[in-house]
Amino acid sequence: MSLLAITLCLLLFFTHYYFLDGVAEAASRASFGRKKGAAAAFPPLPSDGICASSVTVHGYKCQELQVTTEDGYILSLQRIPEGRRSENNNGNNKKQPVIIQHGVLVDGVTWLLNSPEQNLPLILADNGFDVWIANTRGTKFSRRHTSLDPSQPAYWNWSWDELVSYDLPAVFNYVSSQTGGQKIHYIGHSLGTLMALASFSEGKLVNQVKSAALLSPIAYLSHMTTRLLDLAARFYIDQLTRIFGLSEFIPKGLPVQLFLRELCAQPGVDCNDLVTAITGPNCCLNSSALDLFFMNEPLTTSTKNLVHLAQIVRSGVLAKFNYVRADYNIQHYGERFPPIYNLSNIPHDLPLFLSYGGQDALSDVLDVATLLDYLKLHDVDKITVQFIKNYAHADFIMGVNAKDIVYNAIISFFNRQFN
Ligand SMILES: *[C@@H]1O[C@H](CO)[C@@H](O)[C@H](O)[C@H]1NC(C)=O
Ligand SMILES: *[C@@H]1O[C@H](CO)[C@@H](O)[C@H](O)[C@H]1NC(C)=O
Ligand SMILES: *[C@@H]1O[C@H](CO)[C@@H](O)[C@H](O)[C@H]1NC(C)=O
Repeated sequence: MSLLAITLCLLLFFTHYYFLDGVAEAASRASFGRKKGAAAAFPPLPSDGICASSVTVHGYKCQELQVTTEDGYILSLQRIPEGRRSENNNGNNKKQPVIIQHGVLVDGVTWLLNSPEQNLPLILADNGFDVWIANTRGTKFSRRHTSLDPSQPAYWNWSWDELVSYDLPAVFNYVSSQTGGQKIHYIGHSLGTLMALASFSEGKLVNQVKSAALLSPIAYLSHMTTRLLDLAARFYIDQLTRIFGLSEFIPKGLPVQLFLRELCAQPGVDCNDLVTAITGPNCCLNSSALDLFFMNEPLTTSTKNLVHLAQIVRSGVLAKFNYVRADYNIQHYGERFPPIYNLSNIPHDLPLFLSYGGQDALSDVLDVATLLDYLKLHDVDKITVQFIKNYAHADFIMGVNAKDIVYNAIISFFNRQFN
């Protein structure tokens, strides 16, 4: 997460370069030392997965599951079917399913770093919900595919358009099939909010979702101005290209680290506090949880995904991936420019809960205002907006007081949905 903004800043300035040229060449560089075509035998499901490391240790039941997307990615999914006191189930036997979707450069573990009393999935389980933690393609436990291997460039040939078109529907369909076709509550953070908003705007998932809670919503990103942005603007193009060229973007990998080192040597950049510099001054993080965070994250994603996000930052328009060259866009979309996701098309009666922070450097207050403007025709009784003055980006997932401020509000919002 901490690297999201840096990456966005960097990519911001060179997304006008022709994207696909870089892919094959860079991918061959990125895959050095790894055998191609090794996907035939899937590695077994990890016994040290998210359930074991972060859920069952606290005395909760947890199932490691997998879902295959229509384009062949095998995603890991954790289900926490009940709380520690299993009699607590909302007064009937049918628990309501909730899908929890993380943001970019992290995975589902991020929700589980605080104590059970403080973290969202376990609080939901204890409040009688049937909790499903999603992990998007390319993250630590979602790196398998029916025919591709992460060492191949084609494996990384996706942006958040594909998370919208394939990952989310696969998870929703699976959860729906396992829970008797019940409607599903959704909680997303950061990119997890964009994925949902984009889906809903195309009429996808709207028949399966019961309500959606969006934390640190990102859709419009033009005001995401940190000082690092200015700095990145002045950065040398060859260094940018070096990162740009990787088809798997590996924050902990050498090229990115070398680049960061250079960035950190610039005057006025305090890399001792990158989290603050990038996500904003989080009020309420626990340093132990933050240490855990850095042990697990940031994870890799596809460079194309970050380029796509950077395009949103640059253009201020929420559109599908721009291949820049008109002939490529025509080939993919039948138009010279990529189609937009028009958030005004989100069904006006879809129950939405938005929570945003006054200190969030990524989900800027002005950009949230733009988002709310697109939602201005939403039925007034179907939208709840919460503003938390002292919260920044990471407080929503890791704040020690997030239960009192945000999660309890989500639970009462969910409990108000009766349809
Ligand atoms: C990436 O996917 C697009 C379709 O979305 C396809 O046209 C292109 O050839 C693919 N490129 C690679 C390198 O796999
Ligand atoms: C911070 O985390 C540690 C380790 O989990 C825990 O013992 C401590 O109570 C937490 N602090 C707060 C303020 O929640
Ligand atoms: C988005 O949709 C709304 C309502 O359907 C329409 O009025 C508006 O012009 C659209 N915006 C764009 C940019 O297409």
